[in-house]
Amino acid sequence: MIETRTAYAYRAGRPEDGHDLLGVHVRAVLEVAIRDYGEDVARSWVSGLTPEGYRASMANGETFDVAVQGPRIVGFCGVKGNEIAGLFVDPDHMRQGIASTLLDRALARQRASGFPRCILSASLTAVRFYESRGFRVIRERAKGTRGGLDMAVVDMEQRLAPS
Ligand SMILES: CC(C)(COP(=O)(O)OP(=O)(O)OC[C@H]1O[C@@H](n2cnc3c(N)ncnc32)[C@H](O)[C@@H]1OP(=O)(O)O)[C@@H](O)C(=O)NCCC(=O)NCCS
Repeated sequence: MIETRTAYAYRAGRPEDGHDLLGVHVRAVLEVAIRDYGEDVARSWVSGLTPEGYRASMANGETFDVAVQGPRIVGFCGVKGNEIAGLFVDPDHMRQGIASTLLDRALARQRASGFPRCILSASLTAVRFYESRGFRVIRERAKGTRGGLDMAVVDMEQRLAPS
């Protein structure tokens, strides 16, 4: 059988990944989520993001897991305790299972840590993705962004069976 899907590898994010994480984050928002939020809110969402910000998040206890194709980072998931703090995939690599793999890896670690549930605030763009992965909607609310505008997000959760 011919393998048609591209091979990706997964590893822990490192402080020196900040620049690449920023690139994936900005492209995912400004090329994809912008369709749900419009230009002003999308730009406000990514405004003020810097490579140093990811390093600071790591220093504050957020762990990052990244998907790579060769040397290139094509997706990442940030996890803090029982919360998925961010999940973004390069638009050129979407719908190939990267977010699902990153999420499965995060949930497995949370389960192993004994958390009874996983929580997150989904973008409108990602709600159907998370529903397809077993999350349920708690509520929709407005969340402030770094640039000052509010964006609509959907708080979601999934119960975690012990591993
Ligand atoms: C949401 C996102 C992380 C999904 O990444 P992805 O790697 O493309 O997701 P996967 O390939 O693992 O998708 C798995 C399944 O989820 C569902 N899914 C994924 N994206 C979807 C979408 N836009 N609409 C509907 N269903 C979707 C599908 O069932 C898909 O399976 P299929 O491709 O076989 O139909 C990505 O689209 C993204 O980065 N979006 C923009 C930024 C953003 O809003 N991030 C979330 C912040 S909370």
